[in-house]
Amino acid sequence: MKASPLDRMFSPRSVAVIGASRTPGKIGNTLVRNIVSYGFKGEVYPINPNAEDVYGKKAYPSVSEVPCEIDLAVVAVPAPCVRAEVENCGRKGIKFIVVISSGFKEIGKRKEEAEVLQAARKYGSRILGPNVFGFFSRASDLNCTFGPAEVAKGNIAIITQSGALGIALIGKTIEERIGLSGIVSLGNKSDLSEVELIQHFDSDPHTKVIFLYLEGTKRGRDLMAVARKVVRRKPIVAIKSGSSQKGARAAASHTGSLAGSDAIFDAAFKQCGILRASDLDEAFNWIRVLATQPQPKGERTLIITNAGGMGVLATDACERSEVTLLDDQPYLDKLFEGQILPFGSTKNPVDMTGQARDADYERVMRIGLSDKKVVHSILSLYCETVDANSLNLAKTMDRVIAETGAGKPCIFSMIGGGTVKGAIDFLNDSGHPAYPNPVDAVSSLGALYQRWRFINKTEEPLGDFECDVESARLLVKKARAEGRVQLYAQEVAEIVSLLGLRQPRNKVCRTVAECVSAAEEMGYPVVLKVVSKDIIHKTEAGGVKLDIDDAREVATAFEAIMTSCKQRYPEATIQGILVSEQVRGGVETIVGGSTDPAFGHVVMFGMGGIYVEVLKDVSFRVAPVPENEARAMVRGIRSAPIFYGARGEPPKDVESAASAIYKVGRLMDVLTDVLEMDLNPLMVLDAGKGCVVLDARITLKDEGGEEQ
Ligand code: COA
Repeated sequence: MKASPLDRMFSPRSVAVIGASRTPGKIGNTLVRNIVSYGFKGEVYPINPNAEDVYGKKAYPSVSEVPCEIDLAVVAVPAPCVRAEVENCGRKGIKFIVVISSGFKEIGKRKEEAEVLQAARKYGSRILGPNVFGFFSRASDLNCTFGPAEVAKGNIAIITQSGALGIALIGKTIEERIGLSGIVSLGNKSDLSEVELIQHFDSDPHTKVIFLYLEGTKRGRDLMAVARKVVRRKPIVAIKSGSSQKGARAAASHTGSLAGSDAIFDAAFKQCGILRASDLDEAFNWIRVLATQPQPKGERTLIITNAGGMGVLATDACERSEVTLLDDQPYLDKLFEGQILPFGSTKNPVDMTGQARDADYERVMRIGLSDKKVVHSILSLYCETVDANSLNLAKTMDRVIAETGAGKPCIFSMIGGGTVKGAIDFLNDSGHPAYPNPVDAVSSLGALYQRWRFINKTEEPLGDFECDVESARLLVKKARAEGRVQLYAQEVAEIVSLLGLRQPRNKVCRTVAECVSAAEEMGYPVVLKVVSKDIIHKTEAGGVKLDIDDAREVATAFEAIMTSCKQRYPEATIQGILVSEQVRGGVETIVGGSTDPAFGHVVMFGMGGIYVEVLKDVSFRVAPVPENEARAMVRGIRSAPIFYGARGEPPKDVESAASAIYKVGRLMDVLTDVLEMDLNPLMVLDAGKGCVVLDARITLKDEGGEEQ
């Protein structure tokens, strides 16, 4: 593993604390206390013009007066003094500066923060912060935080954007019996961000699992690129807070309004293999398994239990957490024949009944652990019984696992009072994840499998993109040159046809007579639609009429559209009426692209029609996506069964829908100037008949982004 550019920060030979107060309880004082008391082996230089020494370390009035080289400075002086101190550090050649001080971007002082960064850049120094609690590094026994003096050593690295939560996590990890290889506060992320820190902990030999607490990111694409590689070596568990719908912004297109930042984070994390936990408890549960258990060699899990009810609870949870139960009954019968007590069951969950004792668990566990063919992981459940000793059972399990040396994931859940807590603690301390709730045990095994599936999935290349991108670019440029952010329907239709997607034949007409002759040429039924750049939601404006079967109905629809649109949008200019051939049958879907502030262009698939924003039955991905991923997007919505022949209906042309998603994703990726794009509705016809774009819209970015 290559050395990390941050090695000197996490393993410095010397540390200066600027603002090392003499007063216990002040942040600068606590920093020195923690560094000294935790046993940092390097030199410590308190910087304070008024102090002789702090915690037995000689103090200096300024870093410039320290007679030796300094690798790391921790700055804890009031915000207005920070810039000058960073300059001093730069001049002294200090390459890493942790700015603890608050009072910058978080309270609107962006300029002041930029000046601090500028001062550091002048000397090639890197900044962590400002507005951080510092960091702990197991690599050098350095606790330069103003949090608790005690930090449990272990192999979990925590990177947190919330300072207060991070400080609390130091205590919580001790409570949870989870040790840390590092904990780093990100603060305002003026320079170093989660991206560099993940890279660092990837190369840190003490770290086995990385836990990220994120509130937002400006570097979504970098995060994805780095995570995609790192998760193959080390799992990344993340909590992304702020998952309420507040993040969804007002947008002109359906895709834009459905693209709340949370759905995108969800998709992006899945695409790069980051395991997203919903809360802290879940994250810690998962970490326990990820940090201790080997990779499984296959999908199938064996559950053993002494209580049917506990087995059922776990079985239900397996479905939710995508854990596959071993269900080869003949094999199970052969495996456990004569090994289960009377009234027990060799069905998975293998029920040994409440009479099971340590020896029964040992026998059945040995069989499961030693099986080389179909048992890939084991979930061992136990309900405390009156005359059994849970701690003894835990010790037996520990011994059996060591003796068989099977190297397969083995997870425990124990329910009961008395000795159960001690048994769970014993198992966890011995590296066997154990939980009081079987559902948590299953969810944690699910996280292990989620990662296993990600790293075993062969990455599909993007493939060819047969589209005359240059012509599409010219259309976008033309609209931009004319000061428009909305492309005309005709321009959008041209782009859709450049993508090779089918559209109904249509013609823009000005009079009833023109409409009738167009309709007769293309054949009934037809659709009439208002053409006006001022009317975005045409259906709501009464600007769309369907199922028109003859010339008389054309005339009626024409008048109705004109009257309704003029009434609702008296200011709108109406260019004409579009007559299109009507496509009957098929499922109304939406395929769209939108722009996310963290991840850039994203692509969406979902059920279309007028209820699209009510039902929100959609799936997202960061664009572009290979076709396989596009197929997974179709499978990923709640209404997916409709596409695969629900209720005796013929299956739909999923391949053509996936191809449309793929093409929109690719186009969004190259037309960087596009803000949003909707194919809505995209009618997905019966299998083999393709799909048809009935309406589409393209909106450009306001500011006019750079085109690639
Ligand atoms: N160089 C060296 N020492 C300096 C200094 C300088 N430029 N300016 C001040 N000092 C000394 C002071 O003399 C004082 O020492 P003393 O107590 O022995 O006299 C010490 O540094 C601290 O300065 P003081 O002015 O008392 O500041 P403070 O301790 O009240 O506050 C911060 C400083 C950085 C802690 C405070 O401004 C702050 O930002 N607090 C919030 C931090 C935070 O929450 N961060 C985010 C966590 S997630």
